[in-house]
Amino acid sequence: MNTWYHISVWLHIIGVSFWIGGMLFLPMVLLPSIKNHPDRRNLLMATGLKFRFAGYIALALLLVTGILNMYLRGIDVSWKFLVISRYGKLVITKIVLFLLILAVSLVHDVQARKRLQSEEEKMRFKIIARWSGRILLLISLTMAFIGVVLSRGA
Ligand code: HEM
Repeated sequence: MNTWYHISVWLHIIGVSFWIGGMLFLPMVLLPSIKNHPDRRNLLMATGLKFRFAGYIALALLLVTGILNMYLRGIDVSWKFLVISRYGKLVITKIVLFLLILAVSLVHDVQARKRLQSEEEKMRFKIIARWSGRILLLISLTMAFIGVVLSRGA
């Protein structure tokens, strides 16, 4: 296996570390730390916006290196191979889950852009933000497991 393949998997793992690491950092470190901070809401919005931008770059990196991983490993990326082989079916599963991540992230972002007036609206956004975060984390952890199976010979 050539050096470019190793570099691609390395970049893939860096992307995963940032994406999953960021999603664990927000609820486990940031939220508890600013719980009683007077400017909690603005801090959360500012951090969320920064992570959103960097997160989309990480997701783009994962998509590009995910495809490169297969190409540089000499995997036959034909449709026939993808739908017949176990490796291929796992990759298709990853791509479907990846599209789900994009969809859930977009729902979260559209809600975050809204000017929230009433307490009811703010509570509703809080619930959407909390659950979309949990769903994104669960999908990403599943993709990481599938990735480990792929790398170690599906
Ligand atoms: C949030 C998104 C993603 C996560 C968390 C993720 C996670 C991982 C992990 C942890 C590995 C194992 C690396 C190793 O131990 O060597 C991996 C490998 C892999 N991933 Fe992803 N991945 C993501 C997105 C994608 C996408 C979108 C694709 C396809 C286009 C993809 C294709 C692959 C492939 C083909 C491998 C195996 C590389 C090999 O054959 O050695 N990944 N992924």
